Amino acid sequence: MAYTTLLFDVADGIARVTVNRPDKLNALNATVLAELSDAVGRIETDDAIRGVILTGAGPKAFVAGADIGEIGGQGPVDGKGRSLRGQRIFRRLERCGKPVIAAVNGFALGGGCELAMACHLRIAAEHAKFGQPEVKLGIGPGYGGTVRLPRLVGQGRALELLLTGAMIDAQEAWRIGLVNRVVPADRLVPECEAVLRTILDNGPLAVRACLESVDAGLGLPLDDALLLEANLFGLLSGTADMREGTAAFLEKRKAGFRGT
Ligand code: COA
Repeated sequence: MAYTTLLFDVADGIARVTVNRPDKLNALNATVLAELSDAVGRIETDDAIRGVILTGAGPKAFVAGADIGEIGGQGPVDGKGRSLRGQRIFRRLERCGKPVIAAVNGFALGGGCELAMACHLRIAAEHAKFGQPEVKLGIGPGYGGTVRLPRLVGQGRALELLLTGAMIDAQEAWRIGLVNRVVPADRLVPECEAVLRTILDNGPLAVRACLESVDAGLGLPLDDALLLEANLFGLLSGTADMREGTAAFLEKRKAGFRGT
């Protein structure tokens, strides 16, 4: 599929995905979502992709939300369909099994904040702004905002953002745990790459197991989550990577993981 609203490039194990509608602050219209869905499929299945950096084109916005022009004319049935479609794509990204970092280079509002939250880590430029302003439009979040935000920052802080629709700056987003790091704009991509490289130096099966255990574990009762962790721990114990990682430590050398 040739993309018109997305840049997609793979180099040295990292896929760089850029939502590319800078004149509309990278708002998510139907084309962006269809292309994002295709891109997630490539991320899931292409073994050359080991990690992902997701960002927005231009200096101003990561993604300024769902395309308000499209939302304005929707009815209940297509509204629900739009929400489910977006949720499915974001969920597939979240469960792709490879680390995904949002490089938040500006406004991350509504669907943009929701997209960033579906990534595993969020690193923000100092001028980035976050918010769920949907209530100002007489609608609520539809791509997981009411679900992921309280999980990330706690119920009280999430409700304040959701109910007021207020925007917060990157520093405040960091303070409440919505983003992992805040860096100067010119350091954003290098910082994302450095963090991703650190992750990719680790055993890929172990990284995948961490993603799976946290993702599934958060929705499970404590004992079931612990059992899942033990099962994954057991599975990893059968891998060549575990033998290599432990041997490398004891032999005081760098491990050469192969994902087996
Ligand atoms: N959907 C569609 N178009 C959008 C958009 C969105 N979510 N966000 C921005 N745009 C468009 C604007 O309409 C404008 O298009 P135009 O030049 O054709 O008029 C362009 O992007 C630039 O935005 P503009 O509003 O002029 O920039 P600004 O710097 O004055 O304000 C924001 C920036 C982010 C504060 C403002 O664009 C905004 O509030 N956007 C909507 C955010 C939102 O409510 N998102 C949730 C949607 S559910």
